[in-house]
This record gives sequence, C-alpha cells and structure tokens, in this order.
Amino acid sequence: MTDKKPKILVTGRLPVLILNRLGEKCDVESNQFDRPMMDAVLRRSIADKEGLISMITDSVDSDLMDRAPRLRVISQMAVGFNNIDVRAATARGIPVTNTPGVLTDATAELAFSLLLAVARRVVEGDKMVREGRFQHWAPFLFLGTEVSGKTLGIVGMGRIGKAVAKRAGGFSMKVLYNNPSRLDPAEEEQLGAARRELGELLAEADFVSLHVPLTDSTRHLIGRDEFSLMKKTSFLVNTSRGPVVDEKELVEALRRGDIAGAGLDVYENEPLLEPGLAELDNVVLLPHVGSGTVETRTRMAEMAAESLLAALGGEAPSRTINPEVFRR
Ligand code: DGY
Repeated sequence: MTDKKPKILVTGRLPVLILNRLGEKCDVESNQFDRPMMDAVLRRSIADKEGLISMITDSVDSDLMDRAPRLRVISQMAVGFNNIDVRAATARGIPVTNTPGVLTDATAELAFSLLLAVARRVVEGDKMVREGRFQHWAPFLFLGTEVSGKTLGIVGMGRIGKAVAKRAGGFSMKVLYNNPSRLDPAEEEQLGAARRELGELLAEADFVSLHVPLTDSTRHLIGRDEFSLMKKTSFLVNTSRGPVVDEKELVEALRRGDIAGAGLDVYENEPLLEPGLAELDNVVLLPHVGSGTVETRTRMAEMAAESLLAALGGEAPSRTINPEVFRR
C-alpha cells in the first residue's frame, strides 16, 4: 500500500474493533446503521473508493463498477454472492472475495432449528401459551411430527449441506443428498449419506433442506412439479436463497396440502413475502438470520476485512471467487 491510505466503503455495520483495524490502513467510509445502505448513496459513495466491503443487500452490478474507476477489490461479507456481477468484476480485473467456512455451523444450526420448529409446532405452541389459551395437557394437544429416525433429503451437499447431515446423525435420521457431483464414498459413509436424483430424493424424504447457491440453474429449482413429488407429510426447509423456491407455488402447495409445512429463512422477493404465506400456521418464518450469531458475524466481518486488506496490499486473498484476475 502507498503512504496515502486507500479509500474504502463498508456498506454494512461492522464490529467497532474491526472498523478500527481497517481504519489503521484505510480511509474508511462506513454505514453506521443496521440497515442496508441506500442504493443511491452506494452509487455516489463508491466513486473515489479503491475497496468495497459489500453485504448481500447491495446490488453490485456493472453500473456500480463503472462509477468506481479506482475500485481494486470487492469483499463480500457473506458466502453467497448472487448480488454481485462477478463476470463484470472479472472483466475489469477486480477480485471478488466472500466468507466461506466461517458460517457453516451457524447456518446448519438454523436449518435444524427450522426443521425442529416446524415439525414440532414450536411457534404455534409458543403463541398459544402466550395468548393464555393453554388450559391443560391433553393427549391430542399440538401433536407434531417426530424427527428421529425420519429421512432427510439435502439438496446441495457443500459445506453447509454436510454440516446439516452431521447433525441429522444425532437424530438417527436417514440422509439422502442431491449434488451435481458425488461425494467420495468414504465421506458418504462417514456422513451416512446416499446420493439420489432430485426427483427420487423429493419422493423419499420426510424433510427436504436446501443448501444450493442461487444461480441460473437453481432459480425455481423447487416449484409446482417438485412439490407434487413430495410426500404430503413432508416439510421443506430453506436457508439458502429465496428464489431457489417458487414461493407462489409454495403457498399453493401448502394450501392444497401437497406438503405438511415449511421452515423458511429466505424469501423470493426479500424482505417481501408472497401474499398468503404469513397467514399459514404450518410455516415458520425467520428474517434471513442463518449466519446470525455473534461469533459467526464477527468472523465474517474479520474475514471480509482481511481479504480486502490483502487485495489492497497486492496479495491474492485466499477466498477469491474469480482468481483468474490474478493470472493476467
Ligand atoms: C450468506 O453468507 O450468504 C448469508 O446468507 C448471509 O447471512
């Protein structure tokens, strides 16, 4: 880095310690509020910046990059990066980094929280007690679906999918997975997981948990046809990206009773919900908090800061999504 500190923009609120660390090496402009930076502000502020720490709520497109002639790195504080036009960044020689690995356990925990909550009707029961409607124990009161011993279908067997599979072992679940490539047989054995075609997995599973990135080929991966393959007693859990599920069709499937329920952390038009979704009792809805633990968000912020500093210092950050920019 030169004597003059490079100017950087941080679009989300970061822990003070990490901001201070960045401030030692950079001239930092950052969002002080716990809400997304307004798009117009982002587009204005980026003009003189050499580094950007972005959030999933930012639209980092070619127009934004055109407005940032000095931009040398885009460091996304998330594992998912569907909000970034990586091809446009590569064309401009800008490395894009993300934060894989550090949020695996937190996201797997949340997937399991949703799975358990929707199967055992935790939110409905909580509501009943709070509203003073709990009068006595009864044999048929709030009967849910047992999780132990059931079949879990994991769609997308990357880091998070595997972490979910490990947790399923604690509930003696049978684990099926669908993934473009087959896992090493030793790893399959260790996870107790068997590969299936998507249609087979949907037909066999009692719980389906989604862990794919959002790409052109995973958009609406689960829609009307897929719901019709699922068991009427099965549940869908989505902690990946909202548009992986056709949310209109999900509401219809839940209304028709094609599936028994859903646990969702992400939405097709986030933060908006498909009309009708919030009125259903058999859904548990969370506000995109898969990685939302103090420990994980701190590690994500640290990793995003490290990658940004590495790139500005002329190094290739280890979590670069488009490493080809360094091979030119
Ligand atoms: C991610 O990292 O992609 C998460 O969705 C953000 O919490």
